[in-house]
Amino acid sequence: MSLPPGFLDELRTRTSLSQVVGRKVMWDQRKSNQAKGDMWAPCPFHQEKSASFHVDDRKGFYYCFGCHAKGDAIGFVQETENVSFMEAIEILAGEAGMQMPARDPRAAEKADRRTELAQVMEQAAQFFRMQLQSGAGAAARAYLVKRQLDQATQDQFGIGFAPDGWQGLWDHLTGKGIKPELIMAAGLAKDSSKGGKPYDVFRNRIMFPIRDARGRCIAFGGRAMDPNDNAKYLNSPETELFDKGRNLYNHGPAREAAGKGLPLIVAEGYMDVIALSVGGFGASVAPLGTAVTENQLHLLWRISDEPIIALDGDKAGIRAAYRVIDLALPLLEAGKSLRFALMPEGKDPDDLIKEDGPEAVQAVLDNALPMVRLLWQRETEGRVFDSPERKAALDKALREKIRMIQDPSIRSHYGEEIKDLRWQLFKRAPASSRAVGKSDGGTWRRKGAPLPPVASTKQSLLVARGEAAETELREAVILASVLSSPEIIDSFEPELEAMECSDPVHATLRDALLRHRPIDMDGAKEVAEQSIGGVALENLLTARHVALIPCVRKPGDAQLARLTVVEELGKLGAAAGLAAEIQEAVEDLDALSDEAVTWRLAQAAEARAQAHRAGQDEGGDFDKGENGVMMDREERRSFAALLDAIQNSKGQS
Ligand code: UTP
Ligand code: MN
Repeated sequence: MSLPPGFLDELRTRTSLSQVVGRKVMWDQRKSNQAKGDMWAPCPFHQEKSASFHVDDRKGFYYCFGCHAKGDAIGFVQETENVSFMEAIEILAGEAGMQMPARDPRAAEKADRRTELAQVMEQAAQFFRMQLQSGAGAAARAYLVKRQLDQATQDQFGIGFAPDGWQGLWDHLTGKGIKPELIMAAGLAKDSSKGGKPYDVFRNRIMFPIRDARGRCIAFGGRAMDPNDNAKYLNSPETELFDKGRNLYNHGPAREAAGKGLPLIVAEGYMDVIALSVGGFGASVAPLGTAVTENQLHLLWRISDEPIIALDGDKAGIRAAYRVIDLALPLLEAGKSLRFALMPEGKDPDDLIKEDGPEAVQAVLDNALPMVRLLWQRETEGRVFDSPERKAALDKALREKIRMIQDPSIRSHYGEEIKDLRWQLFKRAPASSRAVGKSDGGTWRRKGAPLPPVASTKQSLLVARGEAAETELREAVILASVLSSPEIIDSFEPELEAMECSDPVHATLRDALLRHRPIDMDGAKEVAEQSIGGVALENLLTARHVALIPCVRKPGDAQLARLTVVEELGKLGAAAGLAAEIQEAVEDLDALSDEAVTWRLAQAAEARAQAHRAGQDEGGDFDKGENGVMMDREERRSFAALLDAIQNSKGQS
């Protein structure tokens, strides 16, 4: 709808901001000066006792010196009623006695028709309310008592009762002069196949009026009281008024409550919404007898950036959640997301509140999972990934899901998060790394971190274990190089992830570095000390073969560190598994067309290429540093000699 020129100006002149605001605040009489239109009150947008909220009635603007909220009358209504710009204008225009412009003649006609139908629905709602209080409603009242719905709640939600005859409502409405055609069009009665009078759709049911966002009754949900009834709930058919995929139960009140800061909760049933509202969760809605639709998601996101989907704690609840994920993935945009709160086994929110109170619901809400977690759970739950084929199948499934996300930035964040989860799932955790030890030398260590090896045992192990020791040496060099220039971590992420880490201390350090991504040496030192402990770190860095490495002696030279890591990874990579793992990781990254990722991909590819070159060109690799970095051949040779010594000792043993 477009507004005619001058409409807004006139609305502003006719509207007194202090009057509009005055309905929501208590003016500070001493500070305010009514004559000057200079009004002060405690701010309605944040908690405070002093009056820092200022209204300049002449200019029509408000400003809070506390929370800096500001705007005009339209903005104020939008914020406090949680409505759209147009809706706020409609509200203010109504108060100012201004006629909203009609859309076009046919739209106006349609609006009239809808108004007429809504009036019929309202009359029906009143009839049902009356019936609930009548003699015929005794069983229904008893049922509501059993469901713990007190009078105030019944009034708040307009709950009623449809009596058990065939024409109770029909006779009542026609008796009031309502045209039969309107009753039929409102979906309240059906034609009799036997040629008699039309009959009521709702009979012997508890009636829940369903209202649109503006509060007009557009449909009913009717609950059978008899557990053997073949339809527990019967909902109004779709009519000119009612499109069940485009409305939500309790939409209007929930929108207002969400505007006041309550979390927006999407439950499955009417009774859940009512119980939640009574329990203090006023911003609760439910879909209308169907699964959540795309349109409903948009409605939800208009109310809140992160609605919480509350799921019944049963298989159907989980399945419903998975459907919501598929629906939501392509619709995600920056700032709009979902969370999922799983009710305890076998319970819905109504049960939980009645059995354990609102605190129990709050606890479940506090533990709500972000959507990416549920997506992960769905693809991994109850499965074993003990083969490359199975891992590949998982990657493929996840890639396909992530591809559904249209927004490139969100897509890349999902990719990152999934990679993190994937890495946690697949990371190797040798049994020894689970040993818990007491802190050594007073250094703080993470609980569960492996004990640092003692230098002397380590030396002898080195000699005894031959090939494994060689691998360990190379790992140590790689990790020490990374510590010397932590900014290179990103470009070796897939390789580091794939590194076998024969030494649990190395695995712990590698994991911590990948997790925390320190960006400078101090950060790296801290991460290392916290993960493996100061002594283990010292051991690592001062071991002879490590201390000899140029980039460890000259920390901070990233290019040097990069070259060292490339070479050592290349040598390690002679182990067949690595290439495959890198390929896998590269494919993973490939799916995400984010620039940062593409850059990292290029780095990974470059690293592989360099390792390859180094492998083909024995010996002279280091002095070919791209930016002309010259390596100390003496030091290189001493490392090679150390390796030789190990090889020889292995040959002798
Ligand atoms: P539930 O079966 O979970 O019912 O249906 P409920 O909301 O917990 O209701 P009580 O506590 O048993 O009274 C959830 C929603 O699914 C729709 C209704 O909208 C209901 O609120 N539904 C369910 C139907 O439309 N028809 C049915 O037969 C059952
Ligand atoms: Mn229930």
